[in-house]
Formats: sequence, structure tokens, C-alpha cells
Amino acid sequence: MPAELVCFEPTCRARFAVTEVIYNCPRCGGLLETGYPDWKQDPEQLKAAWRARRTCNLPLDQSGVWRYREIIPFLEDLDSVVTLREGNTPLLAAPQAAEYGGLDRLVFKHQGFNPTGSFKDNGMTSGVAQARRLGMRRVACVSTGNTSASMAAYAGAGGLEALIFIPHGNISYGKLAQALEYGARTFQVEANFDQILALVRVLAERMGIYLLNSINPFRIEGQKTIMAEMLDQRDWSVPDWIVLPGGNLGNTSAFGKALRELKQWGFIQKLPRLAVIQAEGAAPFFDLFQAARQDRLAAVAHPETLATAIKIGDPVSWPKALKEVSESQGVVEKVTEQEIADAKAVIGKAGIGCEPASAATLAGIRKLTVAGVMRRDADVVAVLTGNVLKDPDYIYRYHTGQLEAPGGRLIQPTFGNRPVVMPNDPEKIAALL
Ligand code: F0G
Repeated sequence: MPAELVCFEPTCRARFAVTEVIYNCPRCGGLLETGYPDWKQDPEQLKAAWRARRTCNLPLDQSGVWRYREIIPFLEDLDSVVTLREGNTPLLAAPQAAEYGGLDRLVFKHQGFNPTGSFKDNGMTSGVAQARRLGMRRVACVSTGNTSASMAAYAGAGGLEALIFIPHGNISYGKLAQALEYGARTFQVEANFDQILALVRVLAERMGIYLLNSINPFRIEGQKTIMAEMLDQRDWSVPDWIVLPGGNLGNTSAFGKALRELKQWGFIQKLPRLAVIQAEGAAPFFDLFQAARQDRLAAVAHPETLATAIKIGDPVSWPKALKEVSESQGVVEKVTEQEIADAKAVIGKAGIGCEPASAATLAGIRKLTVAGVMRRDADVVAVLTGNVLKDPDYIYRYHTGQLEAPGGRLIQPTFGNRPVVMPNDPEKIAALL
């Protein structure tokens, strides 16, 4: 069997066909992942083939996901694939950010360069391919904004109807605007992300709608290629650390699975350590990681953070993320609203920019180097998950000293950069310059 769905629970490991429309194990309720028990190819030949595809004009070779199709072989053929040339995101050296974070050097893998501005595109191209392969007509997700923007675009491109459920008043306008523009039917529900996810799961099952949240194992497959592309760009030199923000923990699961498989299949010889950073007001995974018993995650009932992308109190993929972070000898850290905001401004000033959730990475690095967990000379790749333009309102408020943390405390504009209002008078402007 070339590809199968496998229950993630070690005590179950039940196996199912990849064409079954299931999101949890029908036997034990565990999470599902794709497995490729017979996978066998020559890593060196594949590395060369992937490099050669970068100069090829075929749409699938131009995609930074499907270029690496040999490590996500769950489709029988590639006819169902819709590509917007996702992936292909750069590694950007950022000396100013490194200094702020307490490192000699730091590289960002900037997923905000994706077609809809976030890493979700890597997973959405594969999730939508699976939806089309299954003959699904309607796809749905609940989202803090980026998943919905991405799903709307890929569904639009692939001729599927997109149904989007978002927490009312809690996503940035940039993201909501994308969903509307890409033609998705958008429902703003008076509940938080976790509550809406439970609702949408029931609806999807009842109405035969295909669910494209990160609980969908085929989305995770696409997100694996973020790690493959990063390693390819580094000529397969493995960094010491991969740092990423954690919300629903799909990306943590995807990165862990990718790195595990790449090691198992002979592409790399060691695993980098994963450092997952959460916002202080939405940090159930941080708490779990500190806890003596790790068999149950205690959800945060009312998650709070201005980094709305990671405002999630009950992350569904925690069992996977826990295993991946543990196996990589990784860590979980949490950071304050002030720390996120300042780190974000530092990333911006370096000419790179990102959305608030992404900046948790640099804030986390700063804490981890101070604590001595991360060495100053470590080789670190931080993943910026979303584009700077996703949340302009946050930026304007920060730089003008109007950004309020949940609870009403004003965020200090440590690196504030206020626009200056001037009369149309060359003398006055010259005096100021
Ligand atoms: N960064 C950004 C910009 C995100 O949009 C998300 C998740 C994350 C980080 C966290 O990733 O959930 O895999 O741990 N956004 C989801 C959404 C939840 O609906 O767009 P995760």
C-alpha cells in the first residue's frame, strides 16, 4: 500500500484507506496521519531532481510544495492539484533581529511570501487536491483568518464552494477581506475559535462538507514541504533549532513529521530542535509541556492575545505536537504582548516585516537565549508565518502608542515610528529634516 491513514495513538495505530473521509480514528477517536510504509527512494537522486525542478516551467515543478511531491505521495495522480505557485519562500538573514534575540546570526524562513500571505498555502494546495480527488464540492474551515484566506483562494481556483466560519470581531481585516474577495461564503460566529471548530466538525459530517482545518492530515502533508524547502535552500545542512509560533499546533506537527521522515528516509542525519512559542494569554501547550503529567491538555477557556492568529485555547493537534517537540528535544516558551509587539517592530525595521503571531518567534528566541537554553552561536531558523500586511491596524496602533493589550494595558511603543503631520510648507519641513 503506497499511502494510508494511520491512527496517531500508539496504542491503536489502526489503518485506513486514504480515500476514506475521516478526520479522527473511527476506532479510538485519535488523530490521523498519513503513512507511507513502503517508501523507498534514493535521497541523493531526489535532492538533485528537486534542484533541477527549480528551473523548470511546469506548474507543479514551480510549486514549492509539489516540487517535493515524492515526500507527500498520497495522490494516485496529480490531476486534482490546484497550484498558485505556493511555497518558494525565501530564507532571509536578519543580523539586526539576531542581535535583538541574543544570537550571532539568525535566518527567517518567511512564509508570508506565499500567494495569500501565509504558510497555510503550503497545506491548502494539498488539502484541496485531496478534496477534489474525493469528488467533494464544498469545503469548510474555522479560522483565525489565514486558513480561511488560503482556503478561499484555493477553493476559488479549484472550482469548489468555500464555507468559512470565523470568530466574530476577532480576526484582522486583511484576512477577512481576502476571504470575501476570493469569493468564500463567510460566516462570522459569536463564539471563539475552539467553540466554532466543534460546531463546524458536526456540520461537516452531517452535510458532507470536506473539512480543511489542520486536523485534516492532508493539509499537514503540504506543510511538511516548508521543512524540505528550507533544507534544500541550505544545501541540506540541518540547523540546530527551528523556531515557530504555536496556535492549533498543526504546523508543529507538520514540521516534526517532515523532519522525522526526512531523517528516516536518509535525507538528513540529525533532527533540529523545535522551539514552539505561544502568546502568554493563549498558552495551553506551554502549560502542558511544563506539567508533570502530559496525558491531557488543560484548555484555556478564554484565550486572549492581540496576535489573533494564535488566539486558540484548545489546540486539536496537541498530541502530535507533544510527540514531535519531545522527540526533537525541543522546548515550548511563552511571551507577553509587549514582547511580541517589540519583536515585531524589530523584524519590521530590518526590512522584513511579519504579522504579530510570527513575531512571537523572535520574542521567544530572546527569552531562550537569556535563559541559556539557546546558545548565542546556535544555528537558528525562525519561521515567519504571515505577511506584514495581514494586520495593518495593529502596526499603526503600535507605532502611534495606541495599541492596547487584552485587559486594557497600553503596549509601550518601544520602537515606535509615528507619522508626522505637516503643513504644506517647505520651510517648516526643511527645518524638521
Ligand atoms: N502563525 C500564523 C500567522 C497563523 O495564521 C497561525 C494559525 C499560526 C501561526 C499557528 O499555526 O495553528 O499550526 O499552530 N492560524 C490558523 C488559522 C489557526 O485559522 O489561520 P498552528
